[in-house]
Amino acid sequence: MIVSVCSDKGAPGVTTLATALGVVWPGPRAVVEADTAGSDLSFRLHPAAADTPLSHLAPDPSIAGLATAARLGLTGAGPLPFAQETSLGVPVVPGVLSAERFRPLRSLWPGLGQALAGWPGTVLADLGRLHPGAPAAPVAQASTAVLLLTRADLEGLFHVRDRVVELAGMVGPGEGDRIRVGVVVTAPVKQRRAAVEQVHQVLASVGSPAPVLGCFVHDPAVAQQLWAGVMTRRLAGSELVRSARSVAESVLATWPSLTATFDATDSSADVHAESTTAPAPAVAP
Ligand SMILES: Nc1ncnc2c1ncn2[C@@H]1O[C@H](COP(=O)(O)OP(=O)(O)OP(=O)(O)O)[C@@H](O)[C@H]1O
Ligand SMILES: [Mg+2]
Repeated sequence: MIVSVCSDKGAPGVTTLATALGVVWPGPRAVVEADTAGSDLSFRLHPAAADTPLSHLAPDPSIAGLATAARLGLTGAGPLPFAQETSLGVPVVPGVLSAERFRPLRSLWPGLGQALAGWPGTVLADLGRLHPGAPAAPVAQASTAVLLLTRADLEGLFHVRDRVVELAGMVGPGEGDRIRVGVVVTAPVKQRRAAVEQVHQVLASVGSPAPVLGCFVHDPAVAQQLWAGVMTRRLAGSELVRSARSVAESVLATWPSLTATFDATDSSADVHAESTTAPAPAVAP
């Protein structure tokens, strides 16, 4: 199953939210970087067994191998054979390094979407800036939930109003006619309540049934700690990570079919497999 994260414009923190959701997500999961603008995670994350703290992910395996293999269908392990273990404890399939290298993969996106949707674990897919006709649109269309991340400033609120309607039309309704698009707002911790309320009002003004799934706390110092790649107690207890957990819980409550598959999945694939609420991430000693 796929939970996609995307934005309209700007860089509100889609890659950061997808990664943080991967860290706190219960059950088997993988972050898949499907942003056709080119990979960022290859440069930001560190391998689990790094020789030096400055090591970065390898160029392979990547989404190129995953998308190619998906043409013939994936095994029961879904994307995991193409994922790299990271120091944050979450398996990640990094994107390819540039937009040029993504171009030859374009015809593979529909098959990739279908194959990932058929995996009982959860793919946290970073789709980057998503517009109709974007190469990654078939992955959004195969998703159980599509999270649109927006800032709570005037531009963010203005654009989210139009984008949420457009995006809902693009991906269509889900099971039981349920809307598949939800909004996550990002704001500093002190402004999070007001930010959520503002998004509610904007969505109500256009009559959108899209749920507001919560606020992803904006905190540059904590984001830097996340990219340093060590899950310290301070990082695990930060408002940023706690807000990601709260968004994860809200997503799972809104689309319960995401949890229905946990039991059906091989529990050896992940230590969190039996939990149905987002766990505290494993912290460094
Ligand atoms: N919640 C946050 N708090 C503080 N800084 C953040 C947060 N989220 C992202 N950032 C920082 O903002 C910058 C952009 O974040 P990120 O790459 O996640 O955005 P994006 O929406 O994926 O951008 P793009 O569209 O370019 O891929 C990064 O330096 C990141 O560390
Ligand atoms: Mg990004």
